[in-house]
Amino acid sequence: MTVALCWCLLLFCLDVSRPELPVAQAGSVPSAGKTLVWGPGLEANIVLPARFFYIQTVDGSGRNLTTSPGEKTFEVKIVSPVEQFTRIWIQVLDRQDGSFLVRYRMYASYSELHIHIMLKNKHVAKSPYVLEGPVYHEGCNCPQPSGATWEEHMKCPQSFPQIDKDLSVFPSVDPDRNAQEIPQRFGQRQSLCHYTIKDNKIYVKTFGEHVGFRIFMDAILLSLTRKVWLPDMEFFVNLGDWPLEKRKPTEKIHPIFSWCGSNNTRDIVMPTYDLTESVLETMGRVSLDMMSVQANTGPPWPLKNATAFWRGRDSRQERLELVKLSRAHPEMIDAAFTNFFFFKHDESLYGPLVKHVSFFDFFKYKYQINIDGTVAAYRLPYLLAGDSVVLKQDSGYYEHFYDELRPWEHYIPIRADLGDLLEKIQWARDHDDQVRKITQTAQQFARNHLMGDSIFCYHYKLFQKYAKLQVTEPRVRKGMELVDQPTDDLFPCSCHRTRTHTQKKDEL
Ligand SMILES: *[C@@H]1O[C@H](CO)[C@@H](O)[C@H](O)[C@H]1NC(C)=O
Ligand SMILES: *[C@@H]1O[C@H](CO)[C@@H](O)[C@H](O)[C@H]1NC(C)=O
Ligand SMILES: *[C@@H]1O[C@H](CO)[C@@H](O)[C@H](O)[C@H]1NC(C)=O
Repeated sequence: MTVALCWCLLLFCLDVSRPELPVAQAGSVPSAGKTLVWGPGLEANIVLPARFFYIQTVDGSGRNLTTSPGEKTFEVKIVSPVEQFTRIWIQVLDRQDGSFLVRYRMYASYSELHIHIMLKNKHVAKSPYVLEGPVYHEGCNCPQPSGATWEEHMKCPQSFPQIDKDLSVFPSVDPDRNAQEIPQRFGQRQSLCHYTIKDNKIYVKTFGEHVGFRIFMDAILLSLTRKVWLPDMEFFVNLGDWPLEKRKPTEKIHPIFSWCGSNNTRDIVMPTYDLTESVLETMGRVSLDMMSVQANTGPPWPLKNATAFWRGRDSRQERLELVKLSRAHPEMIDAAFTNFFFFKHDESLYGPLVKHVSFFDFFKYKYQINIDGTVAAYRLPYLLAGDSVVLKQDSGYYEHFYDELRPWEHYIPIRADLGDLLEKIQWARDHDDQVRKITQTAQQFARNHLMGDSIFCYHYKLFQKYAKLQVTEPRVRKGMELVDQPTDDLFPCSCHRTRTHTQKKDEL
């Protein structure tokens, strides 16, 4: 009731037409028994830097609530039956749509954990959830010896279409040959890392000047090898923005792992360093991640501003066009630069630089324009997870998940030259219900494909399939250094897993 009341007052002040209020709200009382709880964070064997699960509030008559019943509706406690204190940081994030995202970060491993989810004094759904241990924390170096078992625990998909597509142009991979040829071809002008995984240990050699981004690749490999035993393999990671392998599949091509793919190159794509880092550093990093973004999605849909929104820097010609278009049609588009770096800043054409806007504030607007920067715009995962619709520029660049996105289902497509942008914004304004549906499908996609569990699955599956293509033995090459697991973990864990002789043989 109070929610509805506030909305009306707000609407009155803003002097916009009164939207329909969502159904099943007035007087909807959350039911502890009917409310739904699910997600990877309820399972002991899904080790993630930040574990998470969802709560969908349901009322006594079985209807989902579609607006927040109040941030403090549910209380979540995680306890260990054998220890007095648990070092676990919990956050209950209100998604404002009747659902909650609960995340927790463990700083130690436990023999058993009980997750209590309470509504007033009642247990919700099947609470308490018992995680039969050992329940390992992120820092625990305890790889599951069997990759197949790990994938099963993680509920990884059987395949990722993008991985199959990327690897299909490599009937085999020859580590000996690549170790010779790839540095010769790219090592002088590009920044590359040559990795070898041997006995689940990581070795690396870098080529080129700008190798700072290596830390992102080291981090995911360290995290992954703590969780699961990786096959022996050798591969090259491109640390630059642009994909590198421009040869045709009929020519001699080399496998290069990159964060961005393109229609004209043959690089093997991985989840971007940005998305991967956001998974590894969730609840550690102050800025954006795929979970915090879901709890900061701006005002309810009817109160969002129907001007299309964009902020960014001048890293591509079309971005200049976009800002010009915005200045010509301010009632349709609010696009401005926060930074000028690549082009000459002509204020008469592009207006003054504007202050940086917090990403969460993007969601005050219904329509988000996603336009390439240097390569694909790495903000797309966050935009999809938020509560606005994405107008996505057609582009030759892609990230690891674009292949599974469908126009009109997950986003509204716009032409590469932005020629139809105004038209598409008008279409969106005229089809609010349809647009709302696209927004929700996109959010669902983000939940199912872009959260931590999916990012780990993707990396693992890629490495596993790639490793199988190798026709010579991966080796620790001359000049490689060991990338060691961090030793500063305050809470060491005792790992109960050991690798059997058969498992060693299975890997071959
Ligand atoms: C209620 O929400 C759950 C979880 O998102 C969903 O699976 C279910 O289909 C929803 N029920 C209805 C009636 O919409
Ligand atoms: C919507 O956003 C535009 C551009 O940022 C702004 O000029 C306009 O005043 C906003 N409208 C409302 C109703 O707040
Ligand atoms: C790139 O390829 C995709 C998929 O084949 C296609 O839909 C898209 O139009 C292409 N874009 C450009 C700009 O080449």
